[in-house]
Amino acid sequence: MSELREQRRERLVDVYREASVCTKCPLSETRTNVVFGSGDADAELMFVGEAPGAEEDRQGLPFVGRAGALLTELLEGIGMTRKEVWITNVLRCRPPGNRDPQPIEIESCQPYTYSQVELIEPRVVATLGNFATKLLTGSRVGITRVRGTPQVREIGGRTVFLMPLLHPAAALRTPSLVDTLREDFAKLPELIARPLPEGGAGAPAVVELAGAEARADQLDLFGG
Ligand code: URA
Repeated sequence: MSELREQRRERLVDVYREASVCTKCPLSETRTNVVFGSGDADAELMFVGEAPGAEEDRQGLPFVGRAGALLTELLEGIGMTRKEVWITNVLRCRPPGNRDPQPIEIESCQPYTYSQVELIEPRVVATLGNFATKLLTGSRVGITRVRGTPQVREIGGRTVFLMPLLHPAAALRTPSLVDTLREDFAKLPELIARPLPEGGAGAPAVVELAGAEARADQLDLFGG
């Protein structure tokens, strides 16, 4: 392992240690386990979901319930496994009764998300559902309007492709959405392989990419 990679790994372990005893929000009083994230700490693709549910809280691992089974299946559909990606959530502790994340909880937990992006250095961050999408796009535009179209964003000091995706739990409730999710997942391999624009002060914080035409614009924009 290169020295830099080793340093990033050590820093990620430090963040894990800090998160595992976190008391920054009231969810620390009701959780069983902190669900930090799991997978490859050098993954090119990171998923950010909403919050742990009952099974995740019990096991201390993200997406191990029914929505997780669908996530695994969708990944396998594009020839990938969970071991190759990093999976985390907007919140690392379960909201009681699986209620929606509250602003104080999202705010308290977001440094852990940004640190993970900084230290894992993914090329693509796929947001699952409204909460992750709104947090990481910094926009109030909902998931149904933005899903399936990659954006260029700066997260945790890094320029990444952000791909908004429906939450797998939504597809469990409305099975016709599974096809939409499959369609959007199918765009991920190409996105992972696509050159990232240079970041830096001159680069715009947000660029939406809607297919080949936008891609050409994007390359022009960054002088690529
Ligand atoms: N499990 C998770 O870990 N996150 C979700 O958003 C849903 C289920």
